[in-house]
Amino acid sequence: MSDFLFGGTRIQFGEGKARRLGRETLALGFDRVLVMSDPGVAEAGVLAGPLDSLESGGIDYRTFHDVHPNPRAEEVVAAAAMARDFGAQAVVAVGGGSPIDAAKAVAVLCTNGDDVLRYEGEERYREKPLPVVAVPTTAGSASEVTGWSIITVDRRKVGIGGRDLYPRLTVADPALTLSLPREPTAHGGMDVVTHAVEAYLSRRAHPLSDALALGALKLAFRFLPEVAKNGRNLLARGRMLEASIMSGQAFASASLGPVHALAEAAGGVYDLPHGLVNALFLPRVLRHYAVGARKRIEDMVAVCDAPGPTGFSTAVEDLAARCGLPQSLSLEVGPGELEAMVSAASRDQGEGPGDLSPEEMQKILLQALARDPAD
Ligand SMILES: [Fe+2]
Repeated sequence: MSDFLFGGTRIQFGEGKARRLGRETLALGFDRVLVMSDPGVAEAGVLAGPLDSLESGGIDYRTFHDVHPNPRAEEVVAAAAMARDFGAQAVVAVGGGSPIDAAKAVAVLCTNGDDVLRYEGEERYREKPLPVVAVPTTAGSASEVTGWSIITVDRRKVGIGGRDLYPRLTVADPALTLSLPREPTAHGGMDVVTHAVEAYLSRRAHPLSDALALGALKLAFRFLPEVAKNGRNLLARGRMLEASIMSGQAFASASLGPVHALAEAAGGVYDLPHGLVNALFLPRVLRHYAVGARKRIEDMVAVCDAPGPTGFSTAVEDLAARCGLPQSLSLEVGPGELEAMVSAASRDQGEGPGDLSPEEMQKILLQALARDPAD
């Protein structure tokens, strides 16, 4: 076992834990917070419980609901202005990956200024960001246990990372995920699968990340089809939230690979759901690795009962299909878009077992996204 850095977030997990949010936030020493959320969470009524808890905990708050999927720079700049005016001591995110990512960026902007691009990369801010408290309402992004925030700037996804961006506290209450519709549930679930697979195949994988990645993969193969079919199954929702946290802890330490590089590139250009593009790219990248990463793929086959290493990519495809996701899209992919995606994905392919050439990326992007996938 070689050196590694592991974890950073205190996690409170279980049904009903969201009711303790106010008390726990106050215990951290914060009584003025900005709450970040998105329109879907607010409309689904999921925000009401956490806000009640903050109120009864004696916490003064302002809410910012205008975070959209693939959060944009202008949204976090606006939220940071609100947080500064209000004198927020911390940022509380209630929602999926987008509000949690946005909250982390707001935390950086509040103490360092509004130029989002200045913080691209790891530890690029000077002043300590505001602390973040995360209350996930989806199982997928795992942003609630990582130190990364992904923000879209001019159709490009920009990663802002650092030790201070691990949420100080995550309150993971599976009951908050019960009302999530089938489609985003499936997207989130395939994000969990992709995190687990990429963490397990990573060159920086280590025994702790391996155990978490395989554990998460096993849970996701078992419970994702169930939550996609029957979203009110609290036990299955809880197991998927566990899987999300486990896969997140695995990749936060072991890193990700080219599937996420392609997904961030495509998500930036086409504003597509992150989990959906992962589901489209993962089996195609796995086929590319079938020989070079055979032993590691066999380990994953063993935990999720997939039929043989060459069948693992098909098993992943079948899992996505059982959740109602398409095998490909039919977008108009022009040469300009293709070039932008290849260039963005090539910039940093992460820690996969082998890098993809620009030609291989182009082929995968066209097969997964294009109406006429000539290659
Ligand atoms: Fe992801």
